[in-house]
Amino acid sequence: MNQETMTNLWETMALNSTNNPKCPICKKDKPKVEVKHPFKDEMTEVVAACPCEIEEMENFKREQQMKEKRRKINRILSMSSELDQIKELTFENYMQRPGTEVVIEEVKKAVNKFDESNGMGLFIFGVSGNGKSHATAAGGNVLLQKGYSVIFLTEKDLLSRLRATNNFNNHETFHDVMSAAVHADLLVWDDFLSSTRLNGDEKDWMFQIINGRERAKKPIWFTSNLTPDEFQSEQIETVLDPKGRTWWRIMNNTTAVFNRATNYREEQVMKRVKGL
Ligand SMILES: Nc1ncnc2c1ncn2[C@@H]1O[C@H](COP(=O)(O)OP(=O)(O)OP(=O)(O)O)[C@@H](O)[C@H]1O
Ligand SMILES: [Mg+2]
Ligand SMILES: [Zn+2]
Repeated sequence: MNQETMTNLWETMALNSTNNPKCPICKKDKPKVEVKHPFKDEMTEVVAACPCEIEEMENFKREQQMKEKRRKINRILSMSSELDQIKELTFENYMQRPGTEVVIEEVKKAVNKFDESNGMGLFIFGVSGNGKSHATAAGGNVLLQKGYSVIFLTEKDLLSRLRATNNFNNHETFHDVMSAAVHADLLVWDDFLSSTRLNGDEKDWMFQIINGRERAKKPIWFTSNLTPDEFQSEQIETVLDPKGRTWWRIMNNTTAVFNRATNYREEQVMKRVKGL
C-alpha cells in the first residue's frame, strides 16, 4: 500500500468517526479516540471498538480454546479402561467405612487443590476390594467435570496399549499413547505393580511416563495392592530398575496413603451367604 492510499484510508476512517457509528451489539455510539495522524502533524479522531465488541471477540477466542481442550480431553479419555464403569464411581456412592476416612480426605484435598499440586500425586495402597479404585475414580470424575484431562488406566491396560502399537494394524502410535499418558492433567495409574514379570521394555516405558510427568510437574494417582511390609521393604525399590530411580521418583512425588479398610467385595458376598 502506498502512502497516498494509506492517507486516503486514514481520512475515510477519520470521516467515518464523525458519522457516529453505532456498536452492533449494544447500539450505543462507539467510543472515539484521538490519535496522531500517521503522516501529518495533527490529531484525528477515530472510532474504536466498543468494549462489548472486544468482549465478544474474546469470548469467541476463549470458546475456541475450550473446544480444542475438550477435543483433546475426549481423545485422551477414550484411552481409559472401562470408562462407563468408572463414571459411576463417585464420592456420593462411597460409604464411610473404617479405614477409608484418610483416603477420602486425601483424594478430596488433591481435587480441591489440584492447581497447586505442583506434580504431587497420591499413592494409595491396601488390600484388594477396599475402595482404592473407587476413591481415585471419584476424584478423577470431579476433575473431568471441571474440564481437566484425566486418564484412568490399569497398569495392565497401559502396558498392553503400548505393546499393541508394535502391531502395524494399530491406528494408535506409540507416541500417541505415551504422549497422552505423559500430558494428561491427571493420570490415574490403577493397580500399580500388579503385573508380575515385567520385561525390560515395560519397565522402561513405566520409567518414561513417571519421569516425563515429573518433569512436566503433573501428578499421578497410583492404587496398589502392596502390603505395608512390601511397601517398606528394600526389594521394592529395585523391582523397576536396579538403582531404584523409578521407585524413588514415585515416592518423592506422591503422598502415600494406606487404606486400612477391609475388602468391601468380600463383605457384600458374605452378606448374601444364607444361614451364616
Ligand atoms: N466405601 C465404599 N463404599 C461403596 N462402595 C465401595 C466402597 N469400597 C469399595 N466399594 C465397591 O467395592 C468394589 C471394589 O472396590 P474398588 O474396585 O475400589 O477396590 P480396590 O481397592 O480398587 O480393589 P483392587 O485392589 O482389587 O483393585 C467396587 O464396586 C466399589 O464401588
Ligand atoms: Mg482397584
Ligand atoms: Zn457495545
